[in-house]
Amino acid sequence: MLKVHHVGYAVKRLEKAQKQMEAMGYEFERPVEDKDRKVRIAFGQKDGYRIELVMPMEKGSPVDKILADTGPAPYHICYETDYFEKEIEQMTCGGGYRVIIPPAPAAAFKGRKVVFLYSLALGVVEIVEG
Ligand code: NI
Repeated sequence: MLKVHHVGYAVKRLEKAQKQMEAMGYEFERPVEDKDRKVRIAFGQKDGYRIELVMPMEKGSPVDKILADTGPAPYHICYETDYFEKEIEQMTCGGGYRVIIPPAPAAAFKGRKVVFLYSLALGVVEIVEG
């Protein structure tokens, strides 16, 4: 029911990160600004894997702490599901996850809803509706 969609990678400088990944053979889509979350996002693909570069546009973005604590790093896996509400309910009711960013339409997904969950065992997980 959960299908891996992308790995989210927090970066300080999107253009530079993108260029370095392009040098490794990634192909990128045009970056998208998510003003609600105060981030600029670019999706790249290689070998069937999709990577999301996430750069803060201003203070108060969800990647501030990651960048401050560890520097640029992969920090979440996003799963796609056709059963968005049901999946969130299962994961939060006894599944070991709590909601850290409530479900909301995301610019990077043309308005499809995303939610961010946190597990003590796995850290940040993102779910996007299919
Ligand atoms: Ni993501």
